[in-house]
Amino acid sequence: MSLPTPSMQLANDPIESLAQTVFDSGALTNRFYDLWTSGPLQVKQIAIFARNYGEFNRSFPEVLSVMISNTQNIQARAEYAKTLYSEMGYGRVDKVHSVLFDNWLFELGKQLGDSRALTWENIKHDHRVLPQTHALIHGEKEMYAADNAIGSGAQLALEWQAYTMLRRMYDGALHYKKWWADEDAFHEACEYFYAHIGATEKEHKIESLNGARQFNTGPQSLLRIEQGFVKHLALFENFWNAIADEMLRAVEPE
Ligand SMILES: [Fe+2]
Repeated sequence: MSLPTPSMQLANDPIESLAQTVFDSGALTNRFYDLWTSGPLQVKQIAIFARNYGEFNRSFPEVLSVMISNTQNIQARAEYAKTLYSEMGYGRVDKVHSVLFDNWLFELGKQLGDSRALTWENIKHDHRVLPQTHALIHGEKEMYAADNAIGSGAQLALEWQAYTMLRRMYDGALHYKKWWADEDAFHEACEYFYAHIGATEKEHKIESLNGARQFNTGPQSLLRIEQGFVKHLALFENFWNAIADEMLRAVEPE
């Protein structure tokens, strides 16, 4: 039996209503997005963003695996397996999302005048992972392992904020387009963003809705779904604001 799509659900579906609240949350309205989309930033500031977002990005397959291995629900497991498969480039190493992110960083560094400036190896060596980044990753693993309803609420929050997150990241990346002599090459370098603001994140949103619906079996489980959802958004809000503050502290006089 195939799962119903959102369009087949009732308009007052509590899971979809919960998912929609992400757009008013501090996970998407915070100091990081204000700074990142305000204009071109210094290489050191970009590196701070990349160190922390890159750490989160790399841990995402691990986090999803925790979710998959902690549920016995076959339909939910299949939904999350689809998300993991796409995150891992549908089996192609060169299309794994963290690889695409590294490629964008490398190309950006090269265009800004130093091809070593924004390699993952250098960023990893030169910048620390913030406590709020560790808290986000640790909190995700805890929620995804704790209880299927809480985990599915956490995953719902993640996937519903992700489209806007990636779109705003791309809005910021556009500020650097002028450094590319060849405009087509800029777009080729931006594959990480296009992989997300195309079909992928739309599908992940549906998969996360379907996953949470499997665990909405009554008022108590709905409360736990909401609990995971709200906690995950708060972790994101702290993560982004901490990155922004570190980036602002790093500004050097030009
Ligand atoms: Fe991704």
